[in-house]
Amino acid sequence: MLTPSTADLPDIIATTASWQREGLPVQVHPGDLGWYQRFGADALAGALRVWTIGDEIAAIGFLDETELIRMAIAPDHADDKTIADAIVSDLVGDLSDLLPAGTGIAEARFGPALQTALAEAGWTSDEPWTLLHRSLDDPIPPVSLTIDVVEPGNIDDRITVEASAFPGASLTHDRWQDMAAGCAYRQARCLVGYTSDGEAAGATTVWSAGPGRPGIIEPLGVHSDHRGLGFGVDMARAAAAALRDMGASSITVATPSSNTAAVAAYRSAGMSILGEVMDFRRPDHIRSERIR
Ligand SMILES: CC(C)(COP(=O)(O)OP(=O)(O)OC[C@H]1O[C@@H](n2cnc3c(N)ncnc32)[C@H](O)[C@@H]1OP(=O)(O)O)[C@@H](O)C(=O)NCCC(=O)NCCS
Repeated sequence: MLTPSTADLPDIIATTASWQREGLPVQVHPGDLGWYQRFGADALAGALRVWTIGDEIAAIGFLDETELIRMAIAPDHADDKTIADAIVSDLVGDLSDLLPAGTGIAEARFGPALQTALAEAGWTSDEPWTLLHRSLDDPIPPVSLTIDVVEPGNIDDRITVEASAFPGASLTHDRWQDMAAGCAYRQARCLVGYTSDGEAAGATTVWSAGPGRPGIIEPLGVHSDHRGLGFGVDMARAAAAALRDMGASSITVATPSSNTAAVAAYRSAGMSILGEVMDFRRPDHIRSERIR
């Protein structure tokens, strides 16, 4: 397992993009890394771990939050027990300093070998997430909001909506610039939706993994003053239209199943539920050994 440098980021982001394929379960996407880059390139590189076979990247771990590592596996190594066992061993060994005492969660949405190895090591199911998906082949109905693409000189409304939609939101002007400077953002767009009164009601950032590949929403929110008026649906449709414009084949989003408003909004925007996925929670005996 290696910790990359900032010079490795373009290669890692291109690799995660190449692993996004229609029909495969959605796993860590360039957009997840691009969104994290609001904390800077050093922070993103420091949050990544890479497992290699020879010169080839076989798996990527992304420490997205203090207690959460999100895994991406090369499709060619989805059934590779050797790499899966190495990852699980690192999650309770070398990586245990990074998944601190207390709950440790691993997201492993793809890779039967890794999922089996985690289950066999006693990792149990965590909170359910709902995956929603929409092909971009079908027409996307028009929306009532006026949709603007956010430009570097005009990010105030993007920040304001984010702060209202997500209490404690971490997006600031400087962080937006850091995110937009990242290489993942070359295939991304921030959108703000305005009411007929010119008020910023909704915002989203959409991320493509390149033409013909699935794109994602990360994140999407409606200002608390403008909820319940169909603007969540509008922003999800605008997100789909932007991704189609960028050549993406489909749009995907994952949201906690408990977020019923989000699931309803995405469904009303024409997305279908692909199913629920559970993260893996580190077993108690490993947690208590580490606390001692
Ligand atoms: C999720 C969110 C975007 C929905 O925005 P919204 O503008 O209020 O939603 P809409 O008015 O477009 O409503 C869409 C659907 O959700 C339903 N809905 C809205 N709020 C709801 C609630 N609190 N509980 C249950 N359903 C709700 C509506 O009834 C509607 O359903 P319908 O189309 O079947 O009639 C908004 O609540 C939000 O910003 N939440 C915080 C950020 C967030 O969680 N984002 C999503 C994860 S990235």
